[in-house]
This record gives sequence, structure tokens and C-alpha cells, in this order.
Amino acid sequence: MSGKSICYETHIVQTKPDETILDAFIRCGVAIPFSCRGGSCQTCAVRCLEGDIPITAQKGLSDYQKQRGYLLTCCCIPTTDMTIAPLSPDDIITDAFVIAIQQPTVANPCYNFTFELARQRHFTVGDTFKIVDGTNKENIIKIIEYDVEWLATA
Ligand code: FES
Repeated sequence: MSGKSICYETHIVQTKPDETILDAFIRCGVAIPFSCRGGSCQTCAVRCLEGDIPITAQKGLSDYQKQRGYLLTCCCIPTTDMTIAPLSPDDIITDAFVIAIQQPTVANPCYNFTFELARQRHFTVGDTFKIVDGTNKENIIKIIEYDVEWLATA
């Protein structure tokens, strides 16, 4: 398969045959966040504005992310020319306010938080919350399961 042309912000990069977008960007010195290079951390996620998204580029993403055109550049060997863009803060961050905390009990040894969201948002397993409580300490919790209520772990 021949290389494709990838537009990203002010850059136009030509991929080599069977080269991922991330590898092409690294080769050409285009700065893009990445970490694992294997499809698990989602650090390299971008949004597709034009072009076809290969199925392998969305492996492990939620239905919501897929519907919004997210793809992982480290897993994307493009099959068409593409225009892609970084995720915007609106793609990533939703303010939420804790309106109730239920302390652990013997019967339920977990904290239960009730949130009010600043805007409607779909959550999925793997999403993280950063809890800011006005001190310099931040706690990150990650959704690990959904069964009637969301189950998250620190
Ligand atoms: S760099 Fe980790 S998923 Fe792409």
C-alpha cells in the first residue's frame, strides 16, 4: 500500500507504505504527544476531520470516542489521505462538582460520590477523574467497571 498524505495543524506529512501516522510524525519531527506506541495509553489520540479511519486505529476506544472520530495515531496506517486534529479540551475535560459523599460502611466499604456535571457527558470504562479539593493534593480515580453504578479505583 502506498503512503498517504496527513494534514495535522500546520503540517503535511507523507507516510511511507505500512507506516503509522505516529511513526511518520516522529520521522518528520512533528510534535505530538505519545507514550506506549502500542495502543493502550491513548496519549496519541487525535480526531479525524477528513479521510477514512482504519478499524485498527480505533481498537480499545469507546463507542462515544469512535462516533466522534477519535483514532490512535500509533495504530493508524492510513488507507486514504487524512486531515486530523488534536483533541480539544472539550473532548477531554468535563467539570464535575461533588454534591454528596457517602462514607464507607461495613456493608459497602467504598466511598460513593454523587457528581453534578457542568455539561452532559457520556462516561466509559477507562475514563479518569481528577479530584481537586482546594489543597495542593490531587487524586486520580479511574472507572474500572459499570454495574448499576460506576465503580472507580484510585
Ligand atoms: S501512544 Fe499509547 S495509545 Fe498511542
